[in-house]
Amino acid sequence: MNEVTDIPATTTRKVTRLADLTASQQESIRRIPAEKDAVNVPLAATRPNSIFTGTERFEAEQAKIFRRFPVPVTLSALLEEPGSIVAIEAYGMPLLVSRTRDDEIKVFVNACQHKGSKLIEDCAVHKQGRMTCPYHAWTYGIDGQLVGVARSDMFADFDKSKRGLRQLPSRVMGGIVYAQLDRSEPDYSQLSDQVAEDFTALGIADGHVYGRQTFELKANWKVVLEPFLEGYHVQRLHAASIGNLFVDAPNIVDMFGPNIRQVSGRIGYEPAMLDEDPEGNVHKLVTHAYTAFPNLVIVTSQYYTSAMILMPRDVDHTTVHYFMLTPGPATTQKAEEVFKRSYELIISVFGGEDFRAAEISQEGLSTGVPAEVVYCGLEANIVHYYEALEALLARA
Ligand code: FES
Ligand SMILES: [Fe+2]
Repeated sequence: MNEVTDIPATTTRKVTRLADLTASQQESIRRIPAEKDAVNVPLAATRPNSIFTGTERFEAEQAKIFRRFPVPVTLSALLEEPGSIVAIEAYGMPLLVSRTRDDEIKVFVNACQHKGSKLIEDCAVHKQGRMTCPYHAWTYGIDGQLVGVARSDMFADFDKSKRGLRQLPSRVMGGIVYAQLDRSEPDYSQLSDQVAEDFTALGIADGHVYGRQTFELKANWKVVLEPFLEGYHVQRLHAASIGNLFVDAPNIVDMFGPNIRQVSGRIGYEPAMLDEDPEGNVHKLVTHAYTAFPNLVIVTSQYYTSAMILMPRDVDHTTVHYFMLTPGPATTQKAEEVFKRSYELIISVFGGEDFRAAEISQEGLSTGVPAEVVYCGLEANIVHYYEALEALLARA
């Protein structure tokens, strides 16, 4: 299988040019050496098995990271039109995310203020602008206000204005919707404005969700994350799919607090290629991969971008929300075919290869073997990321 390379010129889609990227992204791309000049540095690093299998560690991550800081729940691009709403199972919590008529993204608990019933049970994007509870038909506006109560004459001393949906503190950064799950005052200190600007430059904020899929994986969230932080497995695990498109060259890595930006040259990369065609698609030459705190992965491809939120559910259970973003909907049959093939390819690579590798790793790790996991120089970003997480876990 080979990556799709023949996007037709007749679509309205716009490719990302070098000049479309932020100054910081451009500067990092300029640092990528030619493939032949790349130097790999060996590394000696380990982590104990228990970081993937221990309940104590899992609970510490929940308390000090996932409930302590705002976490990504979805992409704003999923709600393209004002007046739309979607239900999400986020970290075990039923949530609603809406785009109001004033174009504001809001996050609510998906629980009716009468007796808690979920208002929306499916995962489709709804555009009707109102939500009616299936139980006793209380109706809410897209902004969370309670607007209709069946037989309201039967409720004494009842004030509708006090029974709107419970809203969670939230913010959109670079097209990612973050919410504070425990409803405390949100602390955005670990998120990066530079990364948000980069995401906007990559088209995540105004992209189109071509496809999305949810995966329930029997693996710790970090076991699922690791392949997106290292190039070591690419030519091996992906030998039959995309492995031939990449080399073992080191990434250019920048850290913004606990957020990692990696950019690498594609096979045969030479820095001079960057200036050969200023109107050309920069993602034909380089691949961006981000791990945004704490559990969001962005990976660019030539004509689409993958976004994944890895939601920890239990020590050995992770829900992955995968989104394939294109600059817009396909406008021709040919473009639709290209997007469809791209989507099938990426689902088979991530789902059938990376996620499968995570599940079979977790099976072995759960026996206690190996007692420690060892990382090489091609996996250094994993260690950098864990150091950042460990610093937060060590806080009182
Ligand atoms: S639980 Fe929603 S109207 Fe009764
Ligand atoms: Fe991979």
